[in-house]
Amino acid sequence: MNPLNKLLVGITSALPKKFVKIFANRYIAGITLDDVIEKARLLNQKNIMATIDVLGESVSDKKEAERMKDSCCEVLHAVDNYELKANLSIKLTSLALTLDYDFCKSLVSEIIQTAKQTENFVRIDMEDSPVTDITIQMYEDMRKIYDNTGLVLQAYLRRTEEDAKRLMKEKSNFRLCKGIYIEPEEIAFKGRQEIRDNYLKLLRLMFENKAYVGIATHDDNLIDGAMKLIKELSLQNNEYEFQMLLGVREGLHDKILKEGNRLRIYTPFGERWYEYSIRRFKENPNFAGQVVKGILTGGR
Ligand code: FDA
Repeated sequence: MNPLNKLLVGITSALPKKFVKIFANRYIAGITLDDVIEKARLLNQKNIMATIDVLGESVSDKKEAERMKDSCCEVLHAVDNYELKANLSIKLTSLALTLDYDFCKSLVSEIIQTAKQTENFVRIDMEDSPVTDITIQMYEDMRKIYDNTGLVLQAYLRRTEEDAKRLMKEKSNFRLCKGIYIEPEEIAFKGRQEIRDNYLKLLRLMFENKAYVGIATHDDNLIDGAMKLIKELSLQNNEYEFQMLLGVREGLHDKILKEGNRLRIYTPFGERWYEYSIRRFKENPNFAGQVVKGILTGGR
């Protein structure tokens, strides 16, 4: 992150939430279920699929985790009722992963079961490295029972190649992303190019092992690399999809769709928009300019 951006993200996060929300709005569909249903409907009209995320992470009590599970099931029923092209993404720490593994497992199971009944799919997001092992464990436990779930793997982690090789023994469905959390050098690649190189190496490995991959990136270098690989391996467009985040590089949508590729947008909503938005600010190379513009226009 450039130093000015870093400074401004620091200053912005110290400001009242009302102010931060002005900059967060582009990254989130809204607060309510109706907001996200409307956003998914608009994306579908443009031939774009959604993956809906109920915002939240790291709960401190089980009641909160149960409420998250209820919200996730509500989303799945709404997607079914409104016949949306949308699936669900979940963060396991919002379902009490670090409080009680078996309790979390029962909640995740209920969500994936609901998805099964509504012919839908649940993606398990990957969080920071202290929970990598138990997240993978949960995915493996779920895959013993359900086939309608997939996992996110992060190209910046040195371990990912081994994880992918082990998990690909069965037909898998991955989302491959660079990784967003700050991790130590011992376990993570740090250089921009080495992360890209590992991303494309992993993507080739996954494709060659017949895994379905959600190619989650806004990096031109990786999008072009993925498209080249797709051509080289003569993949059909139902063997992968591109994925992007709501509010990020929307100008790329047409380029991806024009080539006959499928595109899914990560569409988060809910009361807990703050932590997610701060992570997005840190990745936005134009954040400084947007803050200045926001101040000059009073957030209009
Ligand atoms: P990079 O960060 O280099 O961005 C490429 C370009 O995109 C930038 O140069 C800039 O132009 C633009 N850009 C990127 N972020 C922006 C922003 N916030 N605002 C404005 N412009 C921006 N991570 C994780 O650890 N676990 C997970 O489960 C997921 N899930 C996930 C789902 C989906 C659908 C996506 C697209 C991404 C994730 N991620 C994630 C996040 C991912 O790991 C990564 O941090 C971001 O996608 C940014 O990496 P890029 O590959 O886009 O490259």
